Amino acid sequence: MKAVQIVELSGPRDALRVVDVPEPPAEHPVTPGRGVVVDVKAAGVAFPEVLQTRGQYQVKPELPFIPGSEVGGVVKSAPEGAAVKPGDRVAAFCLLGGWAEVAVAPEFFAFALPDELDFAQGAGLILNYHTAYFSLKLRGRLTKGETVLVHGAAGGIGTASLQIAKGLGATTIAVVSSDEKERVAREAGADHVVRSDGPWKDEAKELSNGGVDVVVDPVGGDRFTDSLRSLREGGRVVVVGFTGGSIPEVRVNRLLLNNTEVIGAGWGGYVMSKPDVNREIGEAIAGLIEQGFIRPVVGARFPLEQAADALELIDGRGATGKVVLDLA
Ligand SMILES: NC(=O)c1ccc[n+]([C@@H]2O[C@H](COP(=O)([O-])OP(=O)(O)OC[C@H]3O[C@@H](n4cnc5c(N)ncnc54)[C@H](OP(=O)(O)O)[C@@H]3O)[C@@H](O)[C@H]2O)c1
Repeated sequence: MKAVQIVELSGPRDALRVVDVPEPPAEHPVTPGRGVVVDVKAAGVAFPEVLQTRGQYQVKPELPFIPGSEVGGVVKSAPEGAAVKPGDRVAAFCLLGGWAEVAVAPEFFAFALPDELDFAQGAGLILNYHTAYFSLKLRGRLTKGETVLVHGAAGGIGTASLQIAKGLGATTIAVVSSDEKERVAREAGADHVVRSDGPWKDEAKELSNGGVDVVVDPVGGDRFTDSLRSLREGGRVVVVGFTGGSIPEVRVNRLLLNNTEVIGAGWGGYVMSKPDVNREIGEAIAGLIEQGFIRPVVGARFPLEQAADALELIDGRGATGKVVLDLA
């Protein structure tokens, strides 16, 4: 099968090679002896893969390896008792190995892909939407009628967070850096849009009548203190990632003064050992798809052979929504 490997840790452009390798066996390291094998139609590209090409991601497989954490495709084989069967359209989270014509996912990470979504949207469903639901609802305790501020709102996590927040009955404020990203954020359900280089904290406080309830932060960096300042009493900042580069530090007296919280949201590690939570999130996502709230925003699309272009787009802050590699 055709695949793309990371062969050296020299950054997006030179780290990748298109290769012809044997198809993987029908098992996954996370579910030894069992795995859902998928004919890949579209593979997702995300920030961690940029880091993987530099050896900067927490998971550091031995070289060479096929990256690609999630795919949309058709089930080729599935173990007895799995929720999906051969021929089913699926969104599958394989952790690694997705940038290939055939990939394998742990059986609990293969979800039926509803007809409303195409394969590219399937490749943009699990990482971003499961993380966004986990961050907003399970960690951030978002309830109907609250106001959510989303950083990096035109990105993968950002657009997913906007759609899910709307689905949970919240008002949304998007923080973005350009006109194009403003357009994407509005299409994804932002009720208000403010600019990351403007007085966004004051604007957010005004738009929310005194402070937001929840901040979803996949960006980190300098803006963290202002995120805390933008909260109302009882508000929560949910830490999701650090695309801004630096990891912020919190002066905890701020939390005491306003009775606010900083909450970590690390989705993958959490659900991996908790099948019930994983299933609960999958069911909630399926419901929000059915109700029309979730429609993954697919931005740029590249053929598999141009995976380096996809990574450079993300690395250069140029991506909107989900970046996808087409295999079909
Ligand atoms: N916690 C978890 O379980 C979990 C799960 C999945 C992903 N993540 C993390 O979440 C983060 C976001 O992922 P994503 O897929 O949404 O990424 P993305 O699509 O590339 O979006 C990230 C956004 O960050 C903003 N940004 C600000 N400064 C940036 C910079 N210097 N370089 C690049 N982007 C910058 C950009 O928005 P503006 O230009 O509008 O500022 C960009 O749209 C990543 O760090 C990822 O590893 C965490």
